[in-house]
Amino acid sequence: MSEARPTVVVTHPILEPGPTLLQEACEVRNLPNQYHHPVELLRKAAEGAQGLVTQLMDQVGEEVLSVPGLKVVSNVAVGFDNIDVPAATRHGVMVTNTPGILDDTTADFAFTLMIAAGRRLLEADRFTRSGAFKGWAIDMLLGHDVSQSTLGLIGFGRIGRGMARRAKGFGMRVLYYDEHPAPPEAEQELGVTRADLNRVLSESDFVSIHVPLTETTRHLISTPQFALMKPTAVLINTSRGPVVDEAALAVALRSDKIFAAGLDVYEKEPEVHPDLLKLDNVILAPHIASASVRTRSQMSEMAVRNLLTAVRGGRPPNLLNPEALNPR
Ligand code: DGY
Repeated sequence: MSEARPTVVVTHPILEPGPTLLQEACEVRNLPNQYHHPVELLRKAAEGAQGLVTQLMDQVGEEVLSVPGLKVVSNVAVGFDNIDVPAATRHGVMVTNTPGILDDTTADFAFTLMIAAGRRLLEADRFTRSGAFKGWAIDMLLGHDVSQSTLGLIGFGRIGRGMARRAKGFGMRVLYYDEHPAPPEAEQELGVTRADLNRVLSESDFVSIHVPLTETTRHLISTPQFALMKPTAVLINTSRGPVVDEAALAVALRSDKIFAAGLDVYEKEPEVHPDLLKLDNVILAPHIASASVRTRSQMSEMAVRNLLTAVRGGRPPNLLNPEALNPR
């Protein structure tokens, strides 16, 4: 007799080969197309299911994780601040993410924002389209060089290191702040120096954030930190919006405390702070740092493979809470 196919919930569409792999092995419940699913809807959908494929818009807490029979929540992202992992562990629910595959794509995008904000690329495009370009001028749209400048990395995990690798090619000096020092060989290979946060902020021309969102990193960059930065500095955030105090950033940009910013993430996505929308010296991208065809498809596949391993009784490769397997 063949075994019953597990039931799984997919909260938002994912990319091939994810859906095909799921359909082959499971009964799939797709949720209605809605950005934030109310918790009651998520809980109801999870009833009778063994696994959930979630995305960063889903707030997965106690109410959902306590559904009997749920084995795994597989987040299609490297970040997992939308999932209450301690609650999952208490309920014996595995949580997985998609680390590694999006590092280069995200670092490429953060570097793109750095150059574009430093060299005022989007302002220049708007200027030309508006008909304001009347001919070359020596002082037109002056920006700041990335080459030979100092890059300050806040967070020195895989994506931070990817930034350091790219910075080497631009002859940049790289400082990093991370509570965990990198091994000396990695520091040497990448030519980077660890420093405290204040030094990174005060000495850097470009500051790029690569930390996860935790209670310690929430509003890590706010008014006192902007006060330390150079008036020529550029801030880049491709990590999580709440790491930067958006209201304080808008003030810093408006009052020329810093030169420019490039953001891909926001405190209350998809809302953007109205003061930022009014400013010319900030680039506002819609959370697309990992959005290449290859990477988003690999993220979908990795999330599905994590989920399938778990619903079949195995230990998924990207398990964030192995303690969930041995509940006390
Ligand atoms: C992540 O993976 O955490 C990103 O924010 C979405 O790619």
